[in-house]
Amino acid sequence: MIIAPSILAADFGKLREEIEIVNESSADLFHVDVMDGVFVPNISFGFPVMEVLAKYAKKPLDVHLMIVQPERYTDRFMDFGLQSLSIHFEACVQVHRTLESIKNKGVKTGIAINPGTSESVVEPLRDLIDFVNLMTVNPGFGGQSFIQSVVRKIENLDNFRREEELDFLIELDGAITGDNIHEMAVIGADIFVMGTAFFKQKDPVAFVSDIKLKAMID
Ligand code: DX5
Ligand code: ZN
Repeated sequence: MIIAPSILAADFGKLREEIEIVNESSADLFHVDVMDGVFVPNISFGFPVMEVLAKYAKKPLDVHLMIVQPERYTDRFMDFGLQSLSIHFEACVQVHRTLESIKNKGVKTGIAINPGTSESVVEPLRDLIDFVNLMTVNPGFGGQSFIQSVVRKIENLDNFRREEELDFLIELDGAITGDNIHEMAVIGADIFVMGTAFFKQKDPVAFVSDIKLKAMID
């Protein structure tokens, strides 16, 4: 079980301290949500915040680009030394080419798909992707409600990778909590983005260790 706190839900007035909380915890990645106000109806942050993360984060960075024509900026983001980068299927005309260019730089490639997009789009990209970022909310905001119809997509993707002996991981992004995470892990999800559930916790460090402990016992 890979846990990726989303920095979008952090208090940016004390960003350094928030980063240290993730560093101290047993979470595995920093999930970094970049929004352009065009692909999604919200603007989050860009390079200045990336610089701070690259400097202080002691765990790998998982960047999620919610921007149109992501190919314009993938190189600049990869210059920050990312572990993984996901781009949206819906935001990119040359999706195969763009994933290939990310892969060629040695960064893990992810295809992000909106709740309204079929998981079947993953098939032609199967040889290029390290993970699928399955959006469990409509991208744009933290703190939304889980979209139940995505559950079927997790099961379908898990079956697909078993049948075809593929090893891409399934990342769930949006409305993941201590209450639904274990259920989602059982049906095949591997990486769990947590914004609100992590940062609004009184003790995020204990919260993540409890989740991991329960996953080991189950
Ligand atoms: C939504 C972002 C998510 C978001 C998750 O557009 O991609 O990563 O930060 O936030 P929560 O966990 O609050 O739903
Ligand atoms: Zn995200």
